[in-house]
Formats: sequence, structure tokens, C-alpha cells
Amino acid sequence: MTEYLSLPIDDESAERMRAGGLRLALVDTGDADAFGQWLEADARGFHQSRLSPELLAAQLRGLTDRRTSAVYDDSAADPSSPVSTVSSWPARLTLPGGSDSSAWAISAVTVASTHRRRGIASAMLTAELRTAQRLGIAVAILTVSEATIYGRFGFGPAVFAADWKINTRAAKWAGPMASGRIHMVPLEQARQDGEAIVERIRLNGPGEIDVRGHLWNRLFGLAGDPDRKKTLRAVRYDDADGVPQGFAIYSFAQPSEDFSAQTLNVEYLATATDDAYSGLWRYLLEIDLVSTVTAPLRRVDEPMVWQLSDFRSAKKDDEQDHLWTRVLDVKGALEARRYRAPGRIALEVSDPLGFAGGRFLLDVAADGTAVVSPLEGEVPDDAAAVALGIAELGALYLGGVSAVVLERAGRITELRPGSADAVDGAFRSAVAPWLSIWF
Ligand SMILES: CC(C)(COP(=O)(O)OP(=O)(O)OC[C@H]1O[C@@H](n2cnc3c(N)ncnc32)[C@H](O)[C@@H]1OP(=O)(O)O)[C@@H](O)C(=O)NCCC(=O)NCCS
Repeated sequence: MTEYLSLPIDDESAERMRAGGLRLALVDTGDADAFGQWLEADARGFHQSRLSPELLAAQLRGLTDRRTSAVYDDSAADPSSPVSTVSSWPARLTLPGGSDSSAWAISAVTVASTHRRRGIASAMLTAELRTAQRLGIAVAILTVSEATIYGRFGFGPAVFAADWKINTRAAKWAGPMASGRIHMVPLEQARQDGEAIVERIRLNGPGEIDVRGHLWNRLFGLAGDPDRKKTLRAVRYDDADGVPQGFAIYSFAQPSEDFSAQTLNVEYLATATDDAYSGLWRYLLEIDLVSTVTAPLRRVDEPMVWQLSDFRSAKKDDEQDHLWTRVLDVKGALEARRYRAPGRIALEVSDPLGFAGGRFLLDVAADGTAVVSPLEGEVPDDAAAVALGIAELGALYLGGVSAVVLERAGRITELRPGSADAVDGAFRSAVAPWLSIWF
């Protein structure tokens, strides 16, 4: 499906920009000059360095499968340089219950500092949401630089991530002994073998997306910072039958004064079996001349903590919101996922931007599938009932946020006592949702 690449730019936002003397347009990613300017504007927007020729070439090649939009100011000194950027594509988002569905991934949201706070980001984002709706996509997703920007557009934080720090002098391995073996592999080999592994495990837990193309290459230093590749090491875990079941990429920080106390950073770790998980973590935690292992953007409920002799040797350095979710079609979104308990829940959803609000009745069957119908009249006697905003529904969607907590925080309202608990009984995921990358 490539309709998303050519669908015309959103009229409403284009008109809004025209009224302010600006021009909203789709960028032809086959036009190296125009797309190159867009990529430079994107880097500038995030305060990154100018793109090296290699990085520019990698991005010109690797990002052509994204719908790419820009705002231009034809009165600026350099009118070919966008004053705003955004890109988007239909990602596959894993939902609770082990299926996936199309989600509108939005990335590269920038506005030039010369044009900030004039409503440009608002126009771009609402254009993205209308475009996703026109494509029949029920949910939009993004990872964010600041937690203050996207709530107003109806996004709620749904997936959280932790930066772990492990004192490997204190941490002794107390978990299962893996039966396979670790191989040092060249990065290119890990890239090839890893692709099949991550695709195999993608549906194992909610919150993950298909990590492919540019995002995948970036992990291996092939499409991001050119110096990154020099620092990366890769290992692969093969099970007792010799089948690859996991891999890790890691790097070392600059040696500290004490050469025997270096810091190893786990750049990426993916495992298809518990055996591979234990095997790779144990390997990473037992490397000589290392006293600290850091592992950013990992699960908040990382099982590794329970595999160490000293529970306090692994700590979360940071834990924060990672993936934000915006429901655009309540029926489509809620019917796509599975639930943990049968029952009926009435949802009164408010959406100030007018995309997806309304009154709905969610009927969950014994097998965890659900049917959502419009709710007219009274809430049925046998239903739980809550009123909530669209951002709160987005937060609950992947099963990682508690409705009881949101109710206590005043973010959702129980229309019948005990309803938030009933929502949790159906919506919560057994393991916290997790997304292994940022985009
Ligand atoms: C974040 C950014 C895109 C906002 O662009 P902008 O064109 O200035 O935003 P808008 O003028 O459309 O602002 C819309 C509303 O959001 C608010 N807002 C914008 N950026 C905000 C921020 N960083 N924090 C809190 N509120 C913000 C505005 O005050 C405005 O509120 P109002 O409608 O109540 O007046 C821009 O500041 C930017 O490029 N930042 C650097 C890159 C970045 O962080 N991008 C986000 C990547 S996830």
C-alpha cells in the first residue's frame, strides 16, 4: 500500500498556512535537492550537526518510504529551506493479544526557531491526523522529545521505558544457565541474522513496531552518526541446536582513569527465548574490565533484575514515557486488540479536536475479542461505565497504564462504582508494553 505517499496534502491545514503567508506541501523524496533541504531542516530542528555527505546519502536513500511534508516561507532569505518538517508512515503496531495493526507513525516534527509559536506545528499535526483518518488508520503514534507537546493533540503516554544501570562488581549471576553459546559476529552478520529474530518476536508483546529499513540500519550505525559504527560490537546467541535465538549490540564508553572499571552500554538486545535472554545478559554482565553496564530504553519490568544475586545492583537511572498513542477511530482501535477478561464496558469519550469522541459500548467475549457499538440511551445494567478523554483512552490502549490510577488522579471518571477496576481487568497487559527503539 503506497497510497499514503501520494495522498494530496490536507486542505484545511494548507489553507491555514496560506492565511499566514506560508506554504504547506508534500516533498518529493526522489528530488535530492528538495529532500536534502528537508533533511537538513530536520537536523537543524533537533539541534544536530549539519549532515555529512555519507549521512545525507544514507538518509536520501533510506527514507523514501515516508510521507514527507514541509512548510515553506517564500519570503525567507532561503525559501527552499523548509521552516517546518514532519514525516509519517503506516507502521505495524503490536497490540495486546499478539496481533498487530496499522498505526500512523509520525516523526521529524520540527519548526524553525524563527517561526515558532505561530501555530505551524498545530497545522502540521492536525494535517497528519486527518491524513491518517482518510487512510482508515485507527491510531496515530509517536515518540516524543518533550512530554508537554502532544497531549493537546489527543495523544496519551502508553508505553514507558527505563534506562538501567548495573553495578557488575556487585551483581553476580543467579539466573538460569543458558544451554546455547555466544558467538562474536561482525556487525553486518548481526544485522542480517537479527532482522529475522526481531521479525519473529515482534508480536510477543504490545507496543513494539516493525523495526525495518532506516530504523533498522540506524541501530547498526549504517544510517545515523557515522562514528557510531566504529564503536559497536555484536554477539549472537545460538541455542543448543545451533539456531540463532538472540543478539546484542554494545559499545564501551571512553575508558575512565581506572582501566579496569569501564562502562559497557547495551545498545540493543533482542531475544526470542528465555534461554537466549539469560545467556546474553549473563555474557554482558560478566565481561572483564567492566564495572558498570548501562542499558537505555529497556523494559520497565526487565526480568534480568530477578536474575542477580544482589537486587540493588541493578537500578533504574531513569524511567519515562516513550510511545504516545492517539486514537482516531474508537471502534476500529478497540476491536483490533484482545482483552484479558470478558464483560461489558460503556465508554463516554470526549475528543475536543472532534476526531473520535462519542459514547460506545465495548462487549468483550470469552475468547478476548470485542465488538464495539455506538451507545444510545442508558448504560445497560450489566455494564461498567467510565467517562474519559481521548488522550486517556490512548494511554490505556496498549494495557500499560492503570485506569484505577487515572481515576484516582482525576483523569477518568467512574460513572458506576468499581468501573475503573473493570477496565483494568479487561485492558491491562500481563507484561508492560515495550517499544525497543525511538523513531
Ligand atoms: C515543538 C515544536 C514542534 C512546536 O512548534 P510550534 O510551531 O512552535 O508550535 P505551535 O505554535 O503550533 O504550538 C501549538 C500549541 O502548543 C504549545 N507548545 C508548542 N510547543 C510546546 C512545547 N515544547 N511545550 C509546551 N507547549 C508547547 C504552544 O504554546 C501552543 O499552545 P496554544 O495552542 O495553547 O497557544 C517546536 O518548538 C520545535 O520544533 N521544537 C524542537 C523540535 C522538537 O522538539 N520537536 C518535537 C519532536 S517529538
